[in-house]
Amino acid sequence: MTNTTALITGANKGIGFATARQLGGLGMTVLVGARDADRGRAAEQKLRDGGADARFVPLDVTDAESVAAAAKLVESEYGRLDVLVNNAGIILADGTRALPSETTVATLRRVFETNVFGVATVTNALLPLLLRAPAARIVNVSSEVGSIAVMTDPDGALFELTSVPYPSSKTALNMLTAMYAKELRDTPIKVNAANPGYCATDLNSHNGFRTAEQGAEVSVHLATLPADGPSGLLWGFQMDAGGGYGVLPW
Ligand SMILES: NC(=O)c1ccc[n+]([C@@H]2O[C@H](COP(=O)([O-])OP(=O)(O)OC[C@H]3O[C@@H](n4cnc5c(N)ncnc54)[C@H](OP(=O)(O)O)[C@@H]3O)[C@@H](O)[C@H]2O)c1
Repeated sequence: MTNTTALITGANKGIGFATARQLGGLGMTVLVGARDADRGRAAEQKLRDGGADARFVPLDVTDAESVAAAAKLVESEYGRLDVLVNNAGIILADGTRALPSETTVATLRRVFETNVFGVATVTNALLPLLLRAPAARIVNVSSEVGSIAVMTDPDGALFELTSVPYPSSKTALNMLTAMYAKELRDTPIKVNAANPGYCATDLNSHNGFRTAEQGAEVSVHLATLPADGPSGLLWGFQMDAGGGYGVLPW
């Protein structure tokens, strides 16, 4: 793929950085969204050293002015956007057992600010530029813990998890994904949610059993779907199906 531009939020480390590296490897210009300038520039340099056409774009998804400035930069420098990967995300929990009854609304709000409201802010700001591309792709990096079907399956591997903030934010993100896909179904844009699987990153103190590069494969697959590819799915690593990739239930 050539002459295409991809913006990845939270691309200075973890799965976002690996996604930028892989999309850069496919020949895309990768815009490295990062809220911290030093971390963003360091990631840009590392990606450039690896041969990618990378550029740091200051972007805090919880700050509407920062998002608007990033959209303005993309418009003035590139005129359109081919791929948006809403990857930035945080995890927080109250209490050692993370029970719903121990969870404060303050924590819920903080997680939703980044994982849900941030995605809506970024997507709406960039949508006019995505509509200018011949076949844009939006990838919302979600999780299997956002799947109500997976989390409530008594025979599933995640049945014992009870945390609310992060899983419910990804459930909301799944619904955003489905509704954007519906709104955009008569355009060339495809909107899908990615499940990277449990990957070793700072998010989980590197406890994941997959690598960030493997998690990024899921976002890259959805970012490069062909014209007859699907829209409005949660797709990626299927733990309960014994690994491998496929569609997950909402
Ligand atoms: N790791 C997993 O097992 C796993 C599984 C399923 C889904 N995911 C999802 O994958 C995505 C990437 O997570 P990760 O595991 O790679 O975690 P990570 O290594 O902690 O990276 C998270 C990235 O998001 C950025 N970020 C956080 N808040 C931001 C904000 N307000 N504005 C802009 N960027 C912000 C972070 O920037 P700073 O460096 O500045 O903090 C960092 O670049 C997240 O959406 C996560 O929920 C991860």
